[in-house]
Amino acid sequence: MSSDLPGFFQGTEMPTAGWWEALWPDPAGVLAAVGVKPGMEVIDLCSGDGWFTLQIAKIARHVVAIDIDRDLLAVARHRLTENGATNCDFIAGDAYEIARLAPRPADFVFLANAFHGVPDRPRLARAVRDALTPAGRFAIVNWHARPREQTMILGEPRGPKTELRLSPEQTIAAVEAGGLKLARLVEVPPYHYGAVFILSEP
Ligand SMILES: C[S@@+](CC[C@H](N)C(=O)[O-])C[C@H]1O[C@@H](n2cnc3c(N)ncnc32)[C@H](O)[C@@H]1O
Repeated sequence: MSSDLPGFFQGTEMPTAGWWEALWPDPAGVLAAVGVKPGMEVIDLCSGDGWFTLQIAKIARHVVAIDIDRDLLAVARHRLTENGATNCDFIAGDAYEIARLAPRPADFVFLANAFHGVPDRPRLARAVRDALTPAGRFAIVNWHARPREQTMILGEPRGPKTELRLSPEQTIAAVEAGGLKLARLVEVPPYHYGAVFILSEP
């Protein structure tokens, strides 16, 4: 099981098929809301099975998918190949190592549905900062800190345990402690928000 991998972030297992697609019917809309744009070099950090990676590949110049789970990267690779995307690299490794793993500095780092499980969040923010260009952006898409029984999808409570969920304020404080600053906070209905950060000293 992927969660047995050393360094695996708590509560970030890829969900069983079915409800993820129901929760995220418009992944391209999420990417537009946080500011992924044509021409960008993007890293999809903790990319999972590539649900967002494929849409990033359709918008950006190039995307690097990084995940600790090689099996999920293989699923993502298959998804992108099947859809004719050729502008993507797949790299297995720990998110803390992003700056070492990435082939070149990124204009945008996208991290969805994983930050709640990161044990040392300022450390991850510092690592992302080191992987960005001076004008680069870091977007985190998180579940709102609502009780799990209130985040119903396809008739069942879904998402990480209530006690793992982070408010926007907690996310912002953790990332700013790592040397980035908030540029924008957006709602990502029905249950998420997006926090977009820039370098505090470009
Ligand atoms: C809930 S999934 C979300 C996947 C994708 N971002 C999405 O929203 O569709 C979280 C992902 O984080 C990955 N992950 C967990 N710990 C990690 C780590 N230390 N470094 C890199 N990836 C990790 C898991 O393998 C999983 O694919």
